[in-house]
Parts: sequence; C-alpha cells; structure tokens
Amino acid sequence: MRTQVAIIGAGPAGLLLSQLLHDRGIDTVVLEARGRDYCERRQRAGMLEQATVDVLRAAGAADRLDREGLVHHGIHLRFAGTDRHIDFPSRTGGRSVTVYGQTEIVKDLIAKRVAEGARLYFDAPVTSIEGIDGDAPRVRFVRDGVEEVLDCELIAGCDGFHGVSRAAIPADVLRTYERVHPFAWLGILAEVAPSTDDLIYAYSERGFALHSMRSSEVSRLYLQVAPDADLADWPDERIWAELRERLALPGWTLDEGPISERSITPMRSFVAEPMSFGRLFLAGDAAHIVPPTGAKGLNLAMADVRVLGDAVGEWYERGSRGGLDAYSDTCLRRVWRAEHFSYWMTTLLHLDPGAAEFEQRCQLAQLAYVADSEAAMDSLAENYVGYTWAD
Ligand code: APR
Ligand code: PHB
Repeated sequence: MRTQVAIIGAGPAGLLLSQLLHDRGIDTVVLEARGRDYCERRQRAGMLEQATVDVLRAAGAADRLDREGLVHHGIHLRFAGTDRHIDFPSRTGGRSVTVYGQTEIVKDLIAKRVAEGARLYFDAPVTSIEGIDGDAPRVRFVRDGVEEVLDCELIAGCDGFHGVSRAAIPADVLRTYERVHPFAWLGILAEVAPSTDDLIYAYSERGFALHSMRSSEVSRLYLQVAPDADLADWPDERIWAELRERLALPGWTLDEGPISERSITPMRSFVAEPMSFGRLFLAGDAAHIVPPTGAKGLNLAMADVRVLGDAVGEWYERGSRGGLDAYSDTCLRRVWRAEHFSYWMTTLLHLDPGAAEFEQRCQLAQLAYVADSEAAMDSLAENYVGYTWAD
C-alpha cells in the first residue's frame, strides 16, 4: 500500500489533518487501532476556541457545529459563596468560545471522510515506523490479523499520548517534560438541563467542581477526585451530593437528572520536544498533554494540524520544506503558553491535600485577586479564548 501522507490515529487531530490535506489534493491513509464505534463514543472535553471553529469550517466539517454548538461569552468563577462572571467579548476584542463535544467533532469528521471515500482503516494498529531519517519512510500495521506495510513520503503521528509515534524519535534527540498532578477528574453526562448559562469553575474546601453542558437537555459535570479513585465508590447520590456542596451558592440550585455516562481521567502536563524528526511530525496528544482545567487539549491539537496542513501543502505545492522545518518551533510556542495557563488554572482551582499551609493561603489570595482585579480577569479571558502572539 502506498500514499503521500500516512496518518496514525483517527482522533480529532488525525481526522482533521486527513480532511485538510484531501482538500489540497494530497493523498492520505489513516490507520486507527480502535474500532469506529469506540472512537465515536469516547467522551472528552468540548470547549472550542474561535480558531478551532474556524478551521473546522474551513474543512467543511462544521454544519452540525454551527447548528448545535453553544456560543459562550464567559465563565463563572465560584468560591467562598461568591460568584464572579468573567465576560470574554468585552475583555478580548469581541471573542467568545463554543461548547461542542469532541465526540461530535469526531463523528462529523469520520462521516465526511467516509462519504468522500477516504482510506480510513479502523482496527488497524500501527506496530512500527521505519526510515523517518531517509526519504522513503514506511509504516507497519496489522489488519485482520495480517501485517501490512504502508509506504509513504511523510508520517503524521496523531496517535495520542499512548501511541507509538513519539518513540520513533531517537532517544538522544527527544526531550520530555512532565508533571503528574495529584488529582483526577470524575466526569459525568447527565440528562438534565444545565443549571447555568455559562460554565462554572468552582473552588471549594472539598475540592474543585465544574459545571459544563452539551445541549439544552444535557449537562456535563466534573468533580476533582483522588488520582486512584474508583468509580465503584461513586454511586449517583454521592456524585450529586458532592456537586451540590462544591457548587453551592446562596439562591442557586443544581438540577439533577439521570447519569448516562461516567469516567475518571487522570491529570497530567506533558510536552515532547521536538515535535518532528526527519519525515515524522507529531500532532495533538502524541506531543503534549494539558490538564483539562484550561480546556486547551483539543484546541492545541487542532492548531497543530492547521500548521501542519499548511506546511505539508507548501511542500507539495511549492517544493519548500520551510514550513515543515519550522513546524515544531511554531507549535511549541503556543503549546508552552497553553501548558502554563492550564497548569495555572489547575493549581488555582484544585485543592491539593499535600500543599503546605503557606501555599494554600497563597492560593486563596490569588483566587480573591483574580476575582477582583480587572487586569487579572483580562489575562484569564485572553488565555481562555486562545492567546494569539503579537508578531
Ligand atoms: N496505531 C493506530 N492508532 C493508534 C495507535 C496505534 N499504534 N495508538 C493510538 N492510536 C489511536 C488511538 O486509538 C486514538 O483514536 O490514536 C488516536 C489518538 O486520538 P486522541 O487520543 O483523541 O488524540 P488527538 O487526536 O491528538 O486529540 C487530542 O484528545 O485527549 C484529548 O484533550 C485531548 O482534546 C484533546 C484530544
Ligand atoms: C467540557 O465541557 O467537557 C469541558 C469544558 C471546560 C473544561 C473542561 C471540560 O475546562
């Protein structure tokens, strides 16, 4: 089998890249370890920056997003019985964010790629990547129990944190930076209308809670839990009781409904440098992970792919490797800004049981400052909608 660009992984990064390259007349094959059903069911975050909405529109994959996406103009910061609404448009020159589940983006992109006859193979795990330091790389994968070889010109490693691509970069070239946070998120989907207009990020002495949503009938809520927490210890009543306590505000009530989905996600900050080597280019979670507090994971993945799509286009259309050579540095500047913001939001809003009293006092002082200072709220808003560099 042969293609121009081999794409490993059919998450949002791999699927969008396949679409953007197809639109430029560049051939791709997408190899995905899991089944289509699994990819379309996996629940993930769902907060989209304007740039993410724009690139999905440019890819012609935003019809349902434009119909069903919920535009949000700010967030609530809630703690100590108070609620501060931070408005985005007035603080960021008119910018907003859109709530639309990552699961829905994946479904939309798969449907479009399949309708266009893309070579998108599910249940086809990649086992190894070869020759990325030469000009004829190849990918080995397994399909129907048989090993196959895909010859290509470029490889896009869009296979997530646990994929195989990152390890193909020689160990003496690759550097990784990591922080594992001492908590996890228990996330639920509940069949009940959201109890809020904009998302609520809540700090409490019992830990962090987030009230998000998927539609006018479906709420998405999260609770900070211990990293080793077990879902078996979290019956519905305990989840709702904890959400009620942590989100409590005088005069406000949390509406409850049947829980249709639940999962626990560990929280990690991680960056791999460089994001490319020879003919291999990493994008999305394969190269970097952020804790979900800043809602940046999906947006970073989409931004990588936008840059990579342009760079690959430049290579095929104009024979220039400039964009490909700059890819890693271009992405890493945005990645590290988002890493810091996500780490900052996480440490601001979570209860760290291991923190010294001095740190805990500093955290409370910082929370009070962010909810009071116009400059601090401007900065939070600027980062939340997606920071764009001046040059
Ligand atoms: N061969 C083929 N596919 C693989 C392999 C392999 N060896 N290993 C992993 N994969 C697949 C996974 O099954 C998954 O479907 O790669 C895909 C990676 O998709 P995602 O994990 O969704 O990663 P990405 O596309 O980078 O999207 C990043 O995911 O975790 C969230 O917050 C994050 O929203 C962000 C998004
Ligand atoms: C979500 O809706 O899933 C969501 C929103 C904001 C976050 C994280 C998750 O920071």
